[in-house]
Amino acid sequence: MAYDVIVLGGGPGGYSAAEKAGAAGLKTVCIEGRAYGGTCLNEGCIPTKALLYSGKMYVHAKEDVYGVHAENVTIDHNAVIDRKNKVVKTLVSGVEATLKSKKVEMVKEYGKVVGKGAEGYLVEAGGKTYEGKNLIIATGSVCAIIPIPGLKEGLASGYVLTNRELLDMRELPKKLVVLGGGVIGLEMATYLAMVGVDITIIEMLDHIAGNTDKDLVKDLQKSCEKMGMHFILKAKVTEVKADRVVYEKDGKTMEAEADKVLLSIGRRANTKDVGLENIGVEMNRGAVVTDEHMKTNVPNVYAIGDVNAKIMLAHVAYREADVAVNNILGIKDVMRYNAVPSVIYTLPELSSVGETEESAKAKGIDVRVIKLPMSYSGRFLVENEGVRGTMKLVFNKKYDTLIGAQFLCNYSSEFVAICAGYIEMELTAKDIQQIIMPHPTVAEIIREAVNQY
Ligand code: NAI
Repeated sequence: MAYDVIVLGGGPGGYSAAEKAGAAGLKTVCIEGRAYGGTCLNEGCIPTKALLYSGKMYVHAKEDVYGVHAENVTIDHNAVIDRKNKVVKTLVSGVEATLKSKKVEMVKEYGKVVGKGAEGYLVEAGGKTYEGKNLIIATGSVCAIIPIPGLKEGLASGYVLTNRELLDMRELPKKLVVLGGGVIGLEMATYLAMVGVDITIIEMLDHIAGNTDKDLVKDLQKSCEKMGMHFILKAKVTEVKADRVVYEKDGKTMEAEADKVLLSIGRRANTKDVGLENIGVEMNRGAVVTDEHMKTNVPNVYAIGDVNAKIMLAHVAYREADVAVNNILGIKDVMRYNAVPSVIYTLPELSSVGETEESAKAKGIDVRVIKLPMSYSGRFLVENEGVRGTMKLVFNKKYDTLIGAQFLCNYSSEFVAICAGYIEMELTAKDIQQIIMPHPTVAEIIREAVNQY
């Protein structure tokens, strides 16, 4: 008998879709070729945060600013990796246990779509064929590679690492050159700089950290530089040699020496060898095209998470999973991307949701911006000796509604979602003023800012 749902891929999108489908009583199979939990749990969000937490503990222990004196503070990188592995193992078993409890069949094999049968779509995995009335493609993304001399050879020899290898690297390099000053590059660089690695980040744009608030990004770069990182902006990498990276800047060819190189110039949708062409799924530049219901052009075939390349974030995949399964169940649900929080877990963290001042203006929205130093928060001052932080709230001046928020502030990842809620509910400055926040918290600076509206 055919499955109601075949989920291809067991990352945040895939496993949460399978859990939801299983919980709703649908006969579901989740096919995963590597490890349940996907990139996020095994070689992305979670392991990076484990390393960063150890790094932060180390940095704070050495600080000597809160009246605490510790001598001979050291960090054991191998112990850090072991602990990271322990956390990952616990969470992966948790995902597997939940899938089991929702009666989802788990198949630990690579699956490939091979065509259509009498009852549904056919997926081959581990020599068996599975037939599903609905198919959810959640095959994620892979590290993008630039076609420059020496890069493939560097990856093959282990001189060039992606996030996958770097997270299991047992021996720390003295000098690391990072290609790409985006999320992965900055987070990995933050941990490695904290444990004493000499970091140089080569970025082709004139700024790091992607498309978030330009002022906050400048401040973030200063903080990173204070930690010892070097930035080479507006530079084009042209070659990777055995012990160095060659790049062009201002028309000149230059070199940066490195013991290891991290490749983090973006990710691309993983649609290679998935067999989507066998059922005619429409693609755009290698990513699956979906509508607001997460439907592809092929009936009963959905695509969620990085594979549709809309916004490559685990939490977006979770929500897309809800939307896909709800649509399978006949429950009306639509995906919106206007209030997606995103965080770069640097020191301090850079959190953002909705429009930035620049993006709103580019859309022709008349904005009112409230910008405050984080020192307006008593709790921030108490816990951030010598750290500068800034926040920005962006309002649509016509309606007084909040449309964006950015924070350069430690643990802002924990409260940026408050603003996501306000944006999603289309609350005005006046509405937000009436919401009570606990005191003392760092988040209450949002109230402080809104009171100045
Ligand atoms: P990214 O898109 O965040 O950053 C890549 C950077 O590389 C960009 O700044 C780009 O301008 C630069 N670049 C591209 N080609 C280059 C070249 N040839 N030379 C120099 N610089 C070049 O991609 P990243 O950091 O690889 O992350 C991939 C994905 O993983 C992202 O979509 C991100 O959302 C996700 N991720 C999210 C995390 C989070 O939410 N905290 C953590 C880690 C990854």
